[in-house]
Amino acid sequence: MHLLRTLHDMRGWQHLEKGAGRSIGFVPTMGYLHEGHLTLCQRARAENDRVVASIFVNPLQFGPSEDLSRYPRDEAGDLLRLEAVGVDAVFLPLPEQMYPPGFSTTVEVADLTDTLCGGNRPGHFRGVTTVVSTLFHLVGPDRAYFGLKDYQQWLVIRRMVRDLAMEVEIIGVPTVREPDGLAMSSRNAYLSPQARKAARVLSRALSEARALFEAGERSPLALRNQLLEVLGREPMADAEYAEVVDAETLTPPASGRPFLLALAVRIQGTRLIDNMVLEPSS
Ligand code: PAJ
Repeated sequence: MHLLRTLHDMRGWQHLEKGAGRSIGFVPTMGYLHEGHLTLCQRARAENDRVVASIFVNPLQFGPSEDLSRYPRDEAGDLLRLEAVGVDAVFLPLPEQMYPPGFSTTVEVADLTDTLCGGNRPGHFRGVTTVVSTLFHLVGPDRAYFGLKDYQQWLVIRRMVRDLAMEVEIIGVPTVREPDGLAMSSRNAYLSPQARKAARVLSRALSEARALFEAGERSPLALRNQLLEVLGREPMADAEYAEVVDAETLTPPASGRPFLLALAVRIQGTRLIDNMVLEPSS
């Protein structure tokens, strides 16, 4: 497995592989890898000649009061995990190379970023789309893999790629969960044993709302109330948002179209997100 630490190394690898006519699958990450990240890599492995993953804790997508400085890191462990799933190259750029002195260019997707996580984390998606654009230029992937755990991020990236005519296919991979339903996340490492138990409330709220939907309930308000009611039963849970929106536009849902149930909840200060799409035919 190649370790590429400079932009020059990354470009060189891209040109070599492209020149040989090989397809490139790309998995961008911020490290502290778990089964969710590795599932993305496995999917990329199955669909491309070469797979490259990046590990970069992107300062531009963290707000001033967020967890940038204490974001968990384990480079040695991550490299072992990536090698075990057959990744060919890992890009580990330094912040000073990604953001040279005087850096002043950003990429921003409007509208889709106004709500949910975008509404609560100003500038977050601008940081994500900017770094992902730079990474796409450096890696030159044919396909890039994103988890549906970060559903809004996946939608925003798809929109950016379409609007700016980027030549990369964006693939969404279903959320990988712990046996008790908790969506895997690097931030789960922050949870105390008690908070870890309380964190089950996110997936529980989603499945109780789905049960209501399956019983015929189609009112977005009733489904949202169900989410809030279940979250309200967990004293450690502090809901940042619980929304039912159109799964494509993130605006108020119209009947007959897929609904997105989306949650952001703080458990003892740790911010966790989860979501579920409900199809009208189900
Ligand atoms: P990070 O949180 O490390 O996640 C990297 C990728 O793994 C994202 O596409 C995310 O949706 C996916 N992922 C995380 N948990 C998952 C799970 N339980 N199941 C399936 N996929 C999961 O998302 C980012 O990093 C950053 O914003 C990034 C895109 C790298 C830009 O900095």
